[in-house]
Amino acid sequence: MTVPRRSFERPPNHVFVLYGVTGDLARRKILPGAFHLFVAGLLPKDFRVIGVSRAALSDDDLQAELLESLKEFTHGRSTKRDRLAFAKHFHGSDHDHLVDAVARAEREIGGRPRRLYHLAIPPSAFESVVQYLGSTGLARRARVIIEKPFGMDLASARELNRVVHSVFDEEHVFRIDHFLGKESIDNILAFRFANGLFEPTWNRAHIDHVQIDVPETLSIEGRAGFYEGTGAFRDMVVTHLFQVLGFVAMEPPTALTAKALRTEKNKVFEAMKPIDPEDVVRGQYEGYRSEQGVSPRSQTETFIALRVEVDNWRWSGVPFFLRTGKCMAESRQVISLVYHEPPLRMFPLAAGQRRSQRPNELMIDFRDPGSISEHFLAKEPGPTMKLRETEMTFHYQETFASEHLEAYERLLRDAMLGDQTLFTDSDGIERLWEISMPLIEDPPRLHRYAGGSWGPRAAQRLLSPRRWCLPENC
Ligand code: BG6
Repeated sequence: MTVPRRSFERPPNHVFVLYGVTGDLARRKILPGAFHLFVAGLLPKDFRVIGVSRAALSDDDLQAELLESLKEFTHGRSTKRDRLAFAKHFHGSDHDHLVDAVARAEREIGGRPRRLYHLAIPPSAFESVVQYLGSTGLARRARVIIEKPFGMDLASARELNRVVHSVFDEEHVFRIDHFLGKESIDNILAFRFANGLFEPTWNRAHIDHVQIDVPETLSIEGRAGFYEGTGAFRDMVVTHLFQVLGFVAMEPPTALTAKALRTEKNKVFEAMKPIDPEDVVRGQYEGYRSEQGVSPRSQTETFIALRVEVDNWRWSGVPFFLRTGKCMAESRQVISLVYHEPPLRMFPLAAGQRRSQRPNELMIDFRDPGSISEHFLAKEPGPTMKLRETEMTFHYQETFASEHLEAYERLLRDAMLGDQTLFTDSDGIERLWEISMPLIEDPPRLHRYAGGSWGPRAAQRLLSPRRWCLPENC
C-alpha cells in the first residue's frame, strides 16, 4: 500500500450516508472502494453506512445486495469472512427516514461521530437533497461528497454552488473527480517538483505542445439517460481533462497543502483563454443514434478534440491539445509533452526510418498502474552515425511492488480525513465553465466516425503539421 498524504492516520468515527446505494457507481466503485479500505484497516475504528435508495431497503435486504455486488466487483480480492464483517455496518433507509436512521447509527457508535454524505445520484436531485440536509439539521458536523457534473454550464454551476454553500461551507464540500485520485496524476507533482531534472525544461522555451489524450474503446454502455444530455465535453473534458491540465501546467505550489495546490491550479484556469469553437472538432460514432434511449437526431458528441491555450509566462504560445471519445481504437490515458526539435539536423536517418522522426516526447501514461517514458534518438551500433527512435520507461508496477489505493478508495479516505487537496473547488469549476461558454453556445458541426477508429479526420487536421502521439506505432 503506498503511503497516503497523511500517512496511516485513521479517520475519526463516521456515519457515512450513501445516496444512490443501489446505483451503478455505488456498486462498481464506491462500495468496493470502501470495502478495500475496511480490509486494509484504513476506515475509522467504528462506522455505519446508511444506504439511501428510493424505496427503503431493510437492513437485511441491503446487506444481501451488498454481498452480491462485492462478490462481483472486488474481482477475487475478497474473502467471505471480510465481506460479512463489512456488511454488518450497513443500514437501509429512504430519504424521508434519514433523520431517524442517522440518530440510530450515532447511538450505536456512541460519542459524536462525523457525518459524511456521498451524493451518488443524478445532478437533478442534488439541490433538493442538500436543502433537506440543511433543513433537518443533518448537515451539522458533516461533509458532503458531490459527484460530477458540477453543473451543465456557467449559470447552473453557479446556482448549484449557491445552493450547496447555503448549507455547507466550502471547506466541507468535496467535489469528486476520480482522475485526481489516480496515483500517476498525484505523481506529476513529485515528478515535477521533487526532481531537479525535468522542471527546468517544463516551459515554452523547450516544449512545443502538450497533448492530453483519453480515447476509450467503451461505448456509452447503456448510459443514454446520462450521456445524451451530457456528451463527451461535459462528461470528460470539463470534469477530468481540464483538471489534469491544471496539474501539468501549474506553477510550483508554496506547500503541499490543499489551499496552495488549489491556488496554483486556479491560476492556470484563470490564464486559460476562452475556447474558440473553431479550435474544436466534435464527433459522433456511427450507430450512436440507434443505441437504446438515444434520439435518432441526436446532436450529442461522443468524441471531442480541442486546442486550448494557457496564456501566461510559462506557456504562452504552447498549445494544449485535448482529445477523448467513446468507441475508439484503444483505451488509453496519456499526457505527452512534445519537445522542440534541435535547431540543426546533422544526423542521417537509419534505413527504413521516415523523414519526419518522432520528436522528443515525455509520455505519462496515467491509466493505473501507470508509467512514464522518455522518447529520444540514439545512435544505431555500427560504423556509421545513424539514429533510431528509442525510449526509457519507468513502470509503476515493476518499480513498486506495493499495492496502490484505487482512485475512489483514496478520495473517500481523504474526504473522511477532511483533506481537500485532490478535490475541486467552486471558483475553479466556475472559471472552467466560463471559458467553455463560447463552445457551449456555438458548438461546431458533428462529424461521424467509424467505431474502432481514431475519430474524425478533422481531428488530425486540428494538430497539423503536428501529429497525435497516439497511436504509438504510426
Ligand atoms: C467517467 C465518465 O467519469 O470516467 C465515463 O463518466 C468514463 O464516461 C470514465 O468512461 C473513465 O474513467 P476510468 O478512469 O474509470 O477509465
